[in-house]
Amino acid sequence: MTRVACPAKINWSLRITGKRPDGFHELETVFQTISLHDTLLFRDSDRLTLTCDDPAIPIDETNLVLRAARAVGASNVAIELQKRIPAGGGLGGGSSDAAATLRTLGAGRGDLAEIALSLGSDVPFFLAGGTAYATGRGEILTPLPPIDAALLLVLPEERVLTKDAFARVTRYSRPLGIDAYRDFASFTNDFEEPVFAMLPQLRAYKQRLYDAGATWAGMSGSGSTIAGAFASAAARDDAAARFEDVRIERAETIHNHGL
Ligand code: C5P
Repeated sequence: MTRVACPAKINWSLRITGKRPDGFHELETVFQTISLHDTLLFRDSDRLTLTCDDPAIPIDETNLVLRAARAVGASNVAIELQKRIPAGGGLGGGSSDAAATLRTLGAGRGDLAEIALSLGSDVPFFLAGGTAYATGRGEILTPLPPIDAALLLVLPEERVLTKDAFARVTRYSRPLGIDAYRDFASFTNDFEEPVFAMLPQLRAYKQRLYDAGATWAGMSGSGSTIAGAFASAAARDDAAARFEDVRIERAETIHNHGL
């Protein structure tokens, strides 16, 4: 039996820099893996199966774990998914599960990055994790120095479909280049304006994180998760007491996918 942790991510920054001929958008983003994670268990079996402890997660052929397993030719493995990363929150849970499946069942293959991108724009990042600058659809990756932070995640019940969020983007940003991402001052998210217009309560959560002492707060991906970074775990835990009206998770940044 093999047990693999599949970390969630946040985006410290996310600029949408253009639309591509293939329908996807060009991004400039800074990804960060965090300690909140799903777990995958792999056991030998006579066929390929997937089970999940969360009945809301589809375990049919649309699930990225099964698609990843098939893409690397796995056929004799029973996979169990213990789901802890909320779906539809911009935290990349499904993409991380897929990347962990590729690393586990496709170990040694030279084409994992390519297969990863065929499964989703965020999947290549999760093959290595950590802190990374990304362009293209998110697959042209350069590692950045690690950022240590205690995080408080606010997880509103409202969910945002990534496709809908992209459809609401009306103007594109100029890319800043990797050297601009050395400090929190340049961390912004182009999805905030259109998504906050749709769900104003998300803007209020961001402000409340700053009011509670966050050194930085912003939306992850296309939302709806709002993340806050704090100078210490103690400061984060003090802030957490002010969010009793909404689901929260505490997390730490991690340097790679090893938990
Ligand atoms: O790649 P992924 O399946 O995660 O993307 C979900 C949707 O988000 C795509 O169908 C596309 O509409 C949009 N997308 C985009 N540009 C990106 C990533 C995603 O337009 N770089």
